[in-house]
Amino acid sequence: MSVRAIVLAAGKGTRMRSDRSKVVFPVAGRPIIWWVAAAVMDAGVDEVIVVVGHGGEDVEAALPDGVMTVVQDQQLGTAHAATTALAAMGDTSDDTVLVIPGDSPLITADTLRNLLAEHADGDARCTLLTAVAPDPTGYGRVIRVGDRVRGIVEEDDADEAQREIQEVAVSTYVFEGAGLVETLADIGNDNEQGEYYLPDAIAAMASEGGVAAVAGADPQEVQGVNTHEQLAAADAAMRRRINAEWMEAGVWMQDPASVYVDASVRLTAGVRLYSGTHLEGDTSVGSDSEIGPNTVVRDSQIGSGCKVWFSVVRGAEIADGVEIGPYASLRPGTLMADSTKVGTFVEIKATSLGKGSKVPHLSYIGDASIGEGSNIGAGTITCNYDGFKKHRTVIGDRVFIGSDTMLVAPVEIGDDAYTGAGSVITKDVAEGALAVERSSQKELPGYAERRARLAESEGE
Ligand code: UD1
Ligand code: CA
Repeated sequence: MSVRAIVLAAGKGTRMRSDRSKVVFPVAGRPIIWWVAAAVMDAGVDEVIVVVGHGGEDVEAALPDGVMTVVQDQQLGTAHAATTALAAMGDTSDDTVLVIPGDSPLITADTLRNLLAEHADGDARCTLLTAVAPDPTGYGRVIRVGDRVRGIVEEDDADEAQREIQEVAVSTYVFEGAGLVETLADIGNDNEQGEYYLPDAIAAMASEGGVAAVAGADPQEVQGVNTHEQLAAADAAMRRRINAEWMEAGVWMQDPASVYVDASVRLTAGVRLYSGTHLEGDTSVGSDSEIGPNTVVRDSQIGSGCKVWFSVVRGAEIADGVEIGPYASLRPGTLMADSTKVGTFVEIKATSLGKGSKVPHLSYIGDASIGEGSNIGAGTITCNYDGFKKHRTVIGDRVFIGSDTMLVAPVEIGDDAYTGAGSVITKDVAEGALAVERSSQKELPGYAERRARLAESEGE
């Protein structure tokens, strides 16, 4: 006997007004369907199959490894979707079958484990998850007689009295595999939407006294995402959950409501996150580092004791004790060794900075390598692109690049070398040399006086 899960995700998601399936929209940096599949796997099921619509490649791509898919070509209803999955799963008559909607990213493994355990403890053919919704509009209502569940009636098919019922079905069921296929085959589509309703299985099983319910799911946890407004709410709720976990783990947040940490990000106790911080993708931050205010870090590893503020960092590797910003833009391929600095209005791309080197102000450094202990003066630019190709700039150790130097690549500056301010460097500079490229300064003494005299005579 094993536990096998069916995730329903073939619906079009019309209310998102998008060509994409709604279940691939991101919540805290991961697709909605990923969250559902991960919770299901975490709950200890043996197999997960996701029902996708025609052209469901985007959904397939969004799934964690080890999850299968089956295509439901026409969306004839949730019972039809479950039947499609069961046909692909083969014999389930000795198994337990969990069915869950693919659009509820906040469902937790704990809730599912609890539901599965309740089912295993009882002898019902189905154990149903229900919630009491403050506003039950749109949900199927749970019909009880006394304590016993008798069925589910959909919003469109409900009469006025039934619409008053606040206990709702959340499309999450645990079924005995035995007889399930047969029960689903008997479901018709004579209802307002002309669909084969999976909830109709409940009435069929209830008449044999075989439905139990686990009531009291957190309405927010089981909330489906049908609209952009619900997507934003789910995203905010997931971020609150992630932030709470990181704060519990020793991360300081100035204003958690304005701190956005993707699920894939790794932090360390002692990290400090100021307001307006976005940590995205494959990103990690080491202890005692301070990020923000107003900073985006994506796919970057940041070491310990760093400060990054008012900046955008993408695809960078940052060692320890590094200072970045304010107003720096670090692009993919940036490598900063210990105690380096990239300061105000500086853009760096595909460049390594050796230990202790600094680019403090107003520079563009691309396709370059900078050795240790070098200082790049304000306004320095690597002219790396000749209109056809990118070229490299190589700067040695303990180099002093004067302010406003243009380094026309390919070019190499030797260790301990200097460039004069305002130079356009087109040729390699030898170790320890000073390279200056600019015309020598002329001085015309008494110029102001002569000019004044000229103005006087013109005026006569
Ligand atoms: C469904 C339930 C309702 C429940 C509500 C919220 C039915 C008939 N009604 O209504 O009792 O209160 O969810 O949980 O089941 N899907 C398919 N194939 C289909 C149709 C739907 O895979 O042919 C998938 C959708 O992608 C979605 C899930 O099933 O993930 C639920 O379908 P949806 O159309 O959103 O159902 P609701 O009308 O919200
Ligand atoms: Ca010049």
